[in-house]
Amino acid sequence: MASQHDSVLKTLTVALLVCLVCGVVVATAAVMLRPTQETNKLLDKQINILLAAGSYKAGMDVQKAFESIERKFVDLESGEYVEMPESYDQRKASKDPEQSIRLDGKTDIASLKRQATVAEVYLATDHNGELSKIILPVHGYGLWSTLYGFLALEPDANTVAGLGFYEHAETPGLGGEVDNPKWKAIWPGKEVFDENGDLAIQVIKGTVDAGAADASHKVDGLAGASLTTNGVNNLVRFWVGESGFGPYLDKIHANAAGYSDEERAPATDTSVPAEGEEVING
Ligand SMILES: Cc1cc2nc3c(=O)[nH]c(=O)nc-3n(C[C@H](O)[C@H](O)[C@H](O)COP(=O)(O)O)c2cc1C
Repeated sequence: MASQHDSVLKTLTVALLVCLVCGVVVATAAVMLRPTQETNKLLDKQINILLAAGSYKAGMDVQKAFESIERKFVDLESGEYVEMPESYDQRKASKDPEQSIRLDGKTDIASLKRQATVAEVYLATDHNGELSKIILPVHGYGLWSTLYGFLALEPDANTVAGLGFYEHAETPGLGGEVDNPKWKAIWPGKEVFDENGDLAIQVIKGTVDAGAADASHKVDGLAGASLTTNGVNNLVRFWVGESGFGPYLDKIHANAAGYSDEERAPATDTSVPAEGEEVING
């Protein structure tokens, strides 16, 4: 005979209480851990910026190293610096119609759909306080995911110092080889623009002929991962092109060449290379 403790009401009450207690524990943990998560997220971002700039060493004091890196904001259309609150979140802004623009199919080579009108840049300085790296956040679609990373340029705003992704879901061993240090080591020294100031950097299918005249602008593709390679090529070209940081980089080139801001250096050419070129996509 069932005891009086086995009533349906009691079973439900106990189940409900267990749910309630578990819910409170999970919610409390989520709220209490949020500041730690935010701190770790910021630390991870800082490490990735230092990695792209080639100045990260395991065990280093990241916050101290980051003291020589300044975060600034750029209006992408004008290429001018603008003031923004420290809390500005470019990723969130790119989803907000008031802080972003819709990209059309022809312009949207990185499959972004929307783009924030203001982007962050990170400026690293050396011991003498001279600009040593310009670090640009970049993102774009690969095969399975949007890849988020940083492209670091030398102060000439042309020579690549490094490229690294801190978030993506490409397949390990295929598209995931974007994280392979050997592939990442190909990037430093590559030149984004040619001698006419036209956009020239390209990730090609296969291996670059080191003897080719344009080898300094070309990067080997990832073996067996043409679609991710294609995505990386597109996102890099997008972000250094006219719809990305092009106007900002033009200003740096113009200032370096002694032009005033009004007398701009020639605009960069973001046109897609002709069909049949060894380039996967432009
Ligand atoms: C399970 C699975 C995962 C794959 N992941 C990727 C990937 O992350 N990136 C990629 O470009 N190709 C990936 N591929 C391969 C693509 O489907 C395609 O074959 C490849 O991009 C072609 O590159 P290739 O011309 O260099 O061979 C994957 C294929 C399979 C079956």
